[in-house]
Formats: sequence, structure tokens, C-alpha cells
Amino acid sequence: MSDRDVRIYEVGPRDGLQNEQTPIPTDAKLRFLSLLADAGLREIEATSFVAPKAVPQLADADDLMERLERRAGVRYPVLVPNERGLARATAAGADAICVFTAASEAFTRANINMSIAESIDAFRPVVAAARERGWWSRGYVSTAFGCPYQGEVGEAAVVGVARQLVELGVDEISIGDTIGVGSPGDVRRVVGALLGAGIAADRLAMHFHDTRGTALANVTAALALGIRCFDASTGGTGGCPYAPGAAGNLATEDLVYLLDRDGMTHGVDLDTLLVAAHHVSRTLGRPLSTKVGQAGGWRVP
Ligand code: HMG
Ligand code: MG
Repeated sequence: MSDRDVRIYEVGPRDGLQNEQTPIPTDAKLRFLSLLADAGLREIEATSFVAPKAVPQLADADDLMERLERRAGVRYPVLVPNERGLARATAAGADAICVFTAASEAFTRANINMSIAESIDAFRPVVAAARERGWWSRGYVSTAFGCPYQGEVGEAAVVGVARQLVELGVDEISIGDTIGVGSPGDVRRVVGALLGAGIAADRLAMHFHDTRGTALANVTAALALGIRCFDASTGGTGGCPYAPGAAGNLATEDLVYLLDRDGMTHGVDLDTLLVAAHHVSRTLGRPLSTKVGQAGGWRVP
């Protein structure tokens, strides 16, 4: 792998859609997944096996995963909050999972009704089972840059939770700016602390929400620190029902444009990706709000 290689981890079908109020037909979600793979994305977070009452939009997870036509070389991770979720994911044919907790107690309680310590205990058997089966696994640390309930979150709290996820044995940790409050200086502070604690850059991903327009600046700061995996949502949709004010994720098309211009390699074709972005827009019945979704790419005529 060259230092210019970046992994783009697509979260549109899960984070992007989970907070949409109008039910989206499973067929439209499957089409979205297919278009994302067409664009060259190789890691696509497909859905969540959470309590349907908690996230009604993804209540079709079992049906969706059973019907999903897997492409060779594409990983389709799913969110799993507990053993019940793992059993459903297993029955539906998943083979890559994400557990999710946070750096703030208040958000963890609101999101999954557990303390941080309880969440780690709940994930232990889930991650152990995934490892026994040779599945890929990821752990999320949400509210790493600020919490909608508690306010500022210190980097020591992020490092503490990330370390516990490393000890569980997840392959990767995604550091979430759940409500999009972080700046490049915050990225240097938080990522610097994670690296300083001995967590290798190649085990870290950054998950920026673009609520305040800082996501791309934050990506650039993280790239300079050696981070090479970024979460993004095609069409720029996204938000968490338990994080008031969590607007769209960093848009995959905006990320791809920036990486292309900076000569980074990632395997995603922007024009094909925009087809997927326009599919999201049509499905949701509203125009694309992303910069590159509106302007398109740019080539010297
Ligand atoms: P709870 O109410 O404390 O747990 O929920 P419970 O065990 O009492 O279960 C309540 C009901 O849910 C029961 O059903 C269970 O059977 C059922 P009832 O008896 O009421 O009919 N249940 C389930 N059903 C299906 N699948 C399951 C499951 N588990 C329980 N897996 C729980 C605790 C964790 C289940 C719930 O709070 C939950 O599902 N939360 C998920 C919230 C969520 O998905 N949030 C969004 C994802 S996180 C995010 O977006 C942030 C991220 O993008 C990164 C970032 O931006 O920072 C990842
Ligand atoms: Mg998110």
C-alpha cells in the first residue's frame, strides 16, 4: 500500500438514511448499494441490526441483507449493538460488524441505553464471536469532539474508550465527530493523543459529520497525521436520531473530489458516484445539498 492510498468507507446506506423520517423502500436502498459498488466503493456499511423501535428506517435490515447481491471484493459491514443484533446479522448472512459506543456517558445512554462500561461488556461476546468466525470488525467512538448533552469532550476520554475497543480485538476504530463540531486543531489534539497512546494510524478511521462545514478541513488535518481511512456518505445525508443537531455526514463526492485533486488514490470514480448521489436525491425527493453534487467534477476543457 502506498502512502497515497486512502480507504473510503461508505456509510450512506446506514448513517445517511437512518434518520430519514419517510420510509424508504428496500428496493431503493438495494439500488443505492448497487450504484455505490459500481462507483468502486469497496467498503459499504449496509444497515443496522438495532432495535427497530430505535431506528425505524432500518427495520428492514434482515430483508435487505438477505436480498443484497454481494459484489466480489466488497465488504458490507452492519451495525450490531448486542448479541440479539449479532444473531440477526448472522441469520441474514453478514460477515463484517461494527459495535458502537461513545466518549461521553450522556450520549451513550441516549443512544444505546447503556453506560460506556456496560457497552464494552455488551460488545465483548459480540466481537469475540466475530473474531472466531474470521469476520472483520470495527468499533465506533462517537462524540469524540463534543457531545450534544455534555458539551466538550476531552481527548483522554476518547483514548480511554478507544483502548478498550482495541482490547476487545476490533480490527479498526472509527472516531466520530457525531455532531460536527470539531476543527483541524481538534483533530490534531484528538488524533495526536490516540497515536501517542500507541494506537496505530492504520487502525484508525475518521468519521466526520459536516454540520458546520469543517469536515473537509478535518480530513486534510487527519491526512497530515497519517490517517488513511475516512467515512463518508454519498449524497451527504446523515444524522443520528439520538444526537440532536447531527446534520449530514461528510459527502463522499466532496471527499473524492478533494482526494483526486490532491493526487490521493482510492478507486472511486466520481462521475459514477454522482449517479448514486442523484439516486439518493430522487429517492428522498429533494435536491442534493453537497458542493460537488451541485457543481459536478471539473476537467480542464
Ligand atoms: P433497550 O431498550 O435498552 O434494550 O435498547 P432492551 O434489551 O430492553 O430492548 C428493547 C426492545 O428492543 C426489546 O423489544 C428488545 O427485544 C428489542 P420489546 O420487548 O420492547 O418488543 N431489541 C432488539 N430488536 C432487534 N434487534 C436488536 C435488539 N436489541 C433489543 N439488536 C438498544 C438498547 C441498544 C437495543 C437500543 O437502544 C438500540 O437499538 N439503539 C440503537 C441506536 C442507534 O442505532 N443509533 C444510531 C447509530 S450510532 C450513530 O449513528 C453514530 C455513528 O454514526 C458514529 C458517529 O457519528 O459518531 C456510528
Ligand atoms: Mg455518524
